[in-house]
Amino acid sequence: MAQQSNPCAPLASMSLDPNNYKRPDEFHGFRFIHTSDLAQSLSKSQSHSFQVPEGERPSEFTDLSGVPLWGVGKLSCAGRHYASAVIKTTVALFLTNWDMQLVAPNARQHFTWRSWIYPYADTKVILRLRSQTGEGF
Ligand code: HEM
Repeated sequence: MAQQSNPCAPLASMSLDPNNYKRPDEFHGFRFIHTSDLAQSLSKSQSHSFQVPEGERPSEFTDLSGVPLWGVGKLSCAGRHYASAVIKTTVALFLTNWDMQLVAPNARQHFTWRSWIYPYADTKVILRLRSQTGEGF
């Protein structure tokens, strides 16, 4: 590799490659957990259609193998376990406590730069705190 070159990983196309993730065009919120954990955690739920795509491998979010979200090798992200905990806690709090709705659902919500996809910072969301009567934390 030439000196001063900037190597880049095309994360968007790697994430949509069926060799890396099964049925990548479909949203499966539980695609990375063990199927037995999914069955156990949803066993008391009413009927649901959640599934793990056939052939998908369970993974730790902070795993360094595969798509290099956290960088590679010796330079990989030292804060990834902290980042993972904050991201999961934040998502869990929002899903549990708030009803969320986009102000303009049909407006464009992201732009791309090189291989990255960025959400527009000015996308507006309406948050409604769920009633405190038994729902949420
Ligand atoms: C979603 C959040 C994060 C992502 C996607 C991310 C991603 C990355 C990536 C891709 C690298 C490698 C950069 C390179 O190869 O030059 C890196 C390095 C690093 N990250 Fe993160 N990071 C995140 C959050 C954090 C947080 C919260 C901390 C600290 C609390 C942190 C600390 C570091 C450090 C210290 C390095 C340099 C490691 C080294 O060179 O030895 N990161 N991160």
